Parts: sequence; structure tokens; C-alpha cells
Amino acid sequence: MMEKRNSAGIIGTGWYVPEKVITNEDLEQMVDTNNAWIVERTGIHERHVAREDQPVSDLAERAARMALEDAGVRAEDLDLIIVATMTPDRTIPSTACILQDRLGASKAGAFDLSAACSGFAYAAATACQFIETGVYRHILVVGAETLSKVVDWTDRNTCILFGDGAGAAVFGPVDKGFGLLSFDLGSDGAGGDLLDIPAGGSQKPLTAESLLMHENCIHMDGRAVFRFAVKILGETVEKSLERAGIEKTEIDWLVPHQANTRIIDAAAKRLELPAEKVIVDIGKYGNMSAASIPVALAEAVQAHRFKKGDLIALAGFGAGLTWASCIMKWAKED
Ligand code: ACO
Repeated sequence: MMEKRNSAGIIGTGWYVPEKVITNEDLEQMVDTNNAWIVERTGIHERHVAREDQPVSDLAERAARMALEDAGVRAEDLDLIIVATMTPDRTIPSTACILQDRLGASKAGAFDLSAACSGFAYAAATACQFIETGVYRHILVVGAETLSKVVDWTDRNTCILFGDGAGAAVFGPVDKGFGLLSFDLGSDGAGGDLLDIPAGGSQKPLTAESLLMHENCIHMDGRAVFRFAVKILGETVEKSLERAGIEKTEIDWLVPHQANTRIIDAAAKRLELPAEKVIVDIGKYGNMSAASIPVALAEAVQAHRFKKGDLIALAGFGAGLTWASCIMKWAKED
């Protein structure tokens, strides 16, 4: 990798989940499922869902304000805002622009990043490039989703899995040798149909018929995505570790995308990580796509789990297909 001018890392974190909770017992009333099946096959007990009148930018703003305060950075001092989301407020304007306005980030550029559940890791790696080259100082990265609005609540294969939330991190210059050490970004567009929202884009604009067929909602081949995820999550972390010249035994924490405890367990096994080194919060939130990793990260920070110098692996996979991982040397004093 190229010589860096600066080291770039996380200097503040925040998160938000909406108040309303849907439990597995609630889902039993909606589709042919049961709590025991959901817990055994996914590890999920409940998930939070946004109000009907609550757009994803509202969740993103709350997480962002907490992260800015934690970092001691004013919104006016942000150089760039990146929002990773697959559920933007609208196609245009970008949710990042809506957030820029709400925060009053008067000198920031802003764009959305589309990499589904890998979005936060993709955005983290992107943000660090600007800081490492010295072009920008402070970048806000938000992973935010309102998946409840694109879930087919009559489809038991998908509606049990997803939840809403937002996680944010402020990136900035950190002590030399700390922050982002390496990353791996990957894609395989040939697997695009395994997990998609078929209608509503330029290929198939929404019609009354496509709405009737629920083609505006998430469709997924669960078994195929599962096979892909089990392989890729450990593999991408191994690639990032190799690039950083770090052994897997040196990892202090794995913060994986929270899609299914069985997928997380398989990755931890491959990386030879004991359960206590793996951050798991899927039980209370479900799969929040791009928000999963930053919410898990921010909660772990608030619980004082990380200390300066800890080696942390972030790893995600999702629609696209995409995958991404980052190795970070935690740069903040607890
Ligand atoms: N309740 C009860 N039974 C169910 C349910 C349910 N909610 N859903 C499926 N079943 C049934 C199936 O019909 C099937 O019955 P059958 O054997 O009679 O046909 C049986 O349970 C087993 O179904 P599988 O699909 O084989 O179950 P599996 O163990 O694979 O679990 C799951 C399904 C949880 C979806 C799993 O495949 C998975 O987690 N896949 C990965 C999903 C994922 O990570 N997606 C997100 C990617 S991130 C992003 O970009 C958004």
C-alpha cells in the first residue's frame, strides 16, 4: 500500500435505534413462524422499527450528533459526510445531503454510498483515504437503515431478520501507527439476484402490479446468501490481516456484520477467536444492514470494552454481492 502522510482513525462514535420494538412473539401473530425457530436459526429475539413518519435521516442525525459530541468536533468543522444506506429518504437528494443540512455542516461535501451491509466498512476505508493523504481532517461516516420500510411483512423468510437503526463514527487524524491499518473491499455482481429489491429502479420502475407482487421489498435466497457469508466473512478478515502483517491470534476484537449468529460463529471459528472477543448484539437489533457494525462498535465503546492500542477487525458482507473488512488499531483513550 502507498506511504501515508497521516494515520486516520475513529475519534468519536454514536448510535440510535427507534423506540418501537417488534419481538419474535409479535411476529408469530403476523406470519407462520415461532420464537424457538427464529432464535435457533438466527440468534434474533427482537428488532427496533422506525415510525411511519420517521425517515432514515432522522436516525442518522441522532447517531451523528452523539458521535460529533464524543469526538469533540463541531458540525461546521466537518470536511465530508458519507452515509452508507440502502434505504435512503429519497433517491435524490442523497441522505448525506439531508444530514448535512440538518447538522449545519456548512463546509462539508456529502454523498451516499451503496454497498448494502458492507456499507460502513466500505465508507470507513474511503473516509480514511482522504485523511491519510492530508486532503481532509474530519469526516463523518454514518451507517443508517430503515429496513422495516422495504421488508415484506408477509414473507417469513425475510421479515424475521431485519431491523432499523443508525451508527456513526467521526474519523480524523490519530497518533502515527494507530487507526486504520489495512482494509479489503470485494464484490461479485454475478450474485446480485441472490439478495435484491427487484422493482423501483430504472430497470423496473414501480407499477401497481409490481407493488401487488411486493417487488418493492427485499427478496432473498437465504441459503445461498448463508453459504456465501460463512465463507467470505472470515476470508476478508484474513486478507486484511495479511496486508497489515498481523496474525489472527493478535486480534483483540471482531466487530462483524450482525446477520445471523451462525454466520458470526463460523467466522470466529475460522479466525480462532473465542466468543468473548466477538461483539454480538444481533439478539436485540436483528440485521440493521449498514448500521449493524457502527451500532455494535459504538455500544462497545460506551461499555468501555476497547482500550487504546487494541486491534479491532470490522467485517461485513451483503447485497451486491459485496464484502469488506478493516483492521484498526484503536486510537482513543478510554
Ligand atoms: N419460521 C419458521 N420456519 C421457517 C422460517 C420462519 N421464519 N423461515 C423459513 N422456515 C422454514 C423453511 O420453509 C424450511 O422449511 P422446509 O425444510 O419445510 O422447506 C426450513 O424452515 C429451513 O429453511 P432454511 O431456509 O433452510 O433455513 P436456514 O437454516 O437456512 O435459515 C436463514 C434461514 C435464517 C434466512 C439463513 O439462511 C440465513 O441467515 N441466511 C443469510 C441471510 C443473510 O445474512 N441475509 C442478509 C445479508 S445482508 C444484506 O445485504 C441485507
